[in-house]
Amino acid sequence: MIVDSENDIKHLKAIGHICAMTLKLMMEQARPGMTTLELDAIGSEFLEKQGARSAPISMYQFPGATCISISPVIAHGIPGGHVLREGELINIDVSAELDGYFADTGGSMVVAKQVPQYEKMIEATKSALAKAIQAAKAGQPLNLIGKAIQDEARRNGYGVIFDLTGHGIGHKLHEDPTQVHNYYKSKDRRILDDGLVLAIEPFLTTGKGHVLEENDGWSLRTTDRMIAAQFEHTIIVTKDEPIILTI
Ligand code: CO
Ligand code: CO
Repeated sequence: MIVDSENDIKHLKAIGHICAMTLKLMMEQARPGMTTLELDAIGSEFLEKQGARSAPISMYQFPGATCISISPVIAHGIPGGHVLREGELINIDVSAELDGYFADTGGSMVVAKQVPQYEKMIEATKSALAKAIQAAKAGQPLNLIGKAIQDEARRNGYGVIFDLTGHGIGHKLHEDPTQVHNYYKSKDRRILDDGLVLAIEPFLTTGKGHVLEENDGWSLRTTDRMIAAQFEHTIIVTKDEPIILTI
């Protein structure tokens, strides 16, 4: 969506903040011995308490309030009986709706332990998201977002996942522009509009950058089973600094 009132911004900030707090809570609570279903319940209860509705459930009948992916699954992991282990690389993605407005955020982490190989990729992915947000300016080409992500990934010795993209968001979870690539696509001529609401979500990997769907019909894992990390923010594009909603 394109925001066209203070009221839009107010509502987007409200749901953005709720998603951010839910993600923070789940990341803090994730610990060894807990199942991903238990971790999802923490997020689910918190969203409910805020009056927000899980977007994966309301939009896609996803079997979980949030997506919890265990490496090498990197997106759309279904909360279930998997017991979290110390040193495991996981991704939590939270998207939700309040009063007809949607926000989407996510992040990767290591359970209860420092694993340098994972932490390095996590830091590089955070940094790629920060660069991508800086590149998102009204009147500028949309493909500068992908360029910023790919440049930052390369600078740190990683590749990007080509098959997973950011997206427009606002009145639905996924809106136009539907494909905000995480790489530089020179033929992409799209220009960013002032007030455009975007979910930017770089995925970095040590592998070739492709994913496949697992037999559960949801989980997306790297085809080569190499590790990957994601961070995501929902923002409003402006002529100056974007407004980050999921903080
Ligand atoms: Co997300
Ligand atoms: Co998203």
